[in-house]
Amino acid sequence: MKTAFQQNTDIKMSTKTYSQSKNDDNSLVQQCFNSSATTYQQRAVLQKDLGTDLLKTLMPAVVNNREIILDLGCGPGLFSQPLSELSEHLISLDASLSMLQANPNSQTKLTCDSHQLSLLDNCVDLVFSNLMIQWCDFETVVNEVYRVLKPGGESVISTLLPGSLYELQQAWQVVDDDEHIHQYQSLHTIQDCLANMNWKTVETQTKRYTYYYESARALARELKSLGANAVKGRSSKALCGKGKWLAMESAYVKNFADPASNLLPATYRALIIKLKK
Ligand SMILES: C[S@@+](CC[C@H](N)C(=O)[O-])C[C@H]1O[C@@H](n2cnc3c(N)ncnc32)[C@H](O)[C@@H]1O
Repeated sequence: MKTAFQQNTDIKMSTKTYSQSKNDDNSLVQQCFNSSATTYQQRAVLQKDLGTDLLKTLMPAVVNNREIILDLGCGPGLFSQPLSELSEHLISLDASLSMLQANPNSQTKLTCDSHQLSLLDNCVDLVFSNLMIQWCDFETVVNEVYRVLKPGGESVISTLLPGSLYELQQAWQVVDDDEHIHQYQSLHTIQDCLANMNWKTVETQTKRYTYYYESARALARELKSLGANAVKGRSSKALCGKGKWLAMESAYVKNFADPASNLLPATYRALIIKLKK
């Protein structure tokens, strides 16, 4: 049986090979996250709120004394400190090198795609993943999570559901038929996928978060500063056009502005998933 140290040595070696082979694969999502690494921390309100709720789901199990925790899609490390307090060893993993460079974890950092984890089978006690999996193929990543978890290991994952940013989506619908919002997987699809796997237990919980903005432009700026502005399948032409923007903004205000403050709401429907192998 390997010790944690031997496992970590293997982890670093395999990562090197993997990072080199992925050099050319700079997807749209990763470009957005790479360029947002420096602005992310101040703006990540949903990420902080939802990640904190995700951490709370762990608290009763803390006594189990986790040896190795994997922070999957860790970003600049909003949760590095609390996670390192819960474990002997924290592995922070992200596809974006810029995000990892901003991450304060002083133990192991891995540049790696979550669809193909450069980790051994059965080597991690807990996988924590806050707001990454909505950018991925859910089934592939959850299969990888299952593979790397030790038997009895647990995972907590948060993601977004359809209906997130519905105000922005409806405001755009007044203007054109393009995709302006990322297409999130339905709760039903996610639950079906999990039910077809070998997890010992699966728990899900939905939560709603609403934030207020001075303008649709302020919301769009925030999404960009978080790297969350990628929309798969959208043509770049659909992004701009001053006339379209003005029409969308005016529809947003007309249909959703809070009458008292005139602020614009942006609502997220989140899903928290708790899994045990
Ligand atoms: C919204 S951020 C969340 C970051 C962090 N978990 C937090 O709570 O602040 C999403 C992160 O997932 C990473 N990511 C997206 N797709 C990924 C993939 N396929 N593999 C690894 N990381 C990925 C991005 O680079 C980004 O850092």
